[in-house]
Amino acid sequence: MRGLAEKVAVITGGGAGIGKATARRMAEEGARVTLLDWSGDDLERTATELNAQGAECLGVHGSAASPEDCERVVQQAMERWGRCDILVANAGVRRFGSLLEATEEDWEHVLAVNLKGVANACVAAANGMRLSGHGGAMVLVSSANAIVGRANMPIYDAAKAGVLSLARSLAVDLAGENIRVNSVCPGFTVTDYHVRRAEAEGRSADSLRASKSSLFDRPAEPHELAAAITFLASNDASFITATNLFVDGGRHST
Ligand SMILES: NC(=O)c1ccc[n+]([C@@H]2O[C@H](COP(=O)([O-])OP(=O)(O)OC[C@H]3O[C@@H](n4cnc5c(N)ncnc54)[C@H](O)[C@@H]3O)[C@@H](O)[C@H]2O)c1
Repeated sequence: MRGLAEKVAVITGGGAGIGKATARRMAEEGARVTLLDWSGDDLERTATELNAQGAECLGVHGSAASPEDCERVVQQAMERWGRCDILVANAGVRRFGSLLEATEEDWEHVLAVNLKGVANACVAAANGMRLSGHGGAMVLVSSANAIVGRANMPIYDAAKAGVLSLARSLAVDLAGENIRVNSVCPGFTVTDYHVRRAEAEGRSADSLRASKSSLFDRPAEPHELAAAITFLASNDASFITATNLFVDGGRHST
């Protein structure tokens, strides 16, 4: 990879999981990273950890569901480093249960973060990239479950399918300004969310890793998603836009 020297990245949901791994990988490639997260604890822990490792990392507390918070994180990145080149719209929430039993609040919460929240971040970043005048790259985090049917996360899956559409539309909209927009579809990836949930249920993280959820008979690790996202955000992907990359160990294509 050619590296991300000089680049400034904004990552929503950067305090944990795939977002945190991406922040670390982008910082290793030379980017300055600004994280938006609604979990103050995770945000502080991650920013402190990355800065202690030599990264240039700024944490901003807020929600991707808020257009104002998305504007604020881009503004703070611009104030600190003078530009905005990369957006990773990664923040996402889960709700489980049949569509037939979903409440209004389930709909509002999941769509507000997983679909509108992605759009909020894209609009804010597009404005920052325009002001910066260097073009840019956005990577929208969807899910491999956007393209298959399953019963227990219908609103989440529908929102993630919407993210794929959003990425393609935005890619057309922003190509004239040299802003690329792509999406990734992770398969099952063992992140902080799953580890915490397993621990709360008395199961170990190792039991998650035993899941035969890909052609390699294992789930992904966050750094494997981070590598794919970082590639799409880098100049090595300069002719790649409006596309989606499955990072699911072949599971959903076979
Ligand atoms: N892990 C998987 O198996 C998997 C599979 C497919 C898709 N994804 C998607 O990848 C993304 C990251 O998932 P993860 O597994 O790393 O999750 P995670 O819960 O481990 O980390 C997500 C981070 O986002 C933050 N966040 C959530 N909602 C937010 C909001 N509204 N505003 C700001 N921050 C917010 C959380 O506080 C957390 O720090 C999500 O969009 C998820 O839907 C994950």
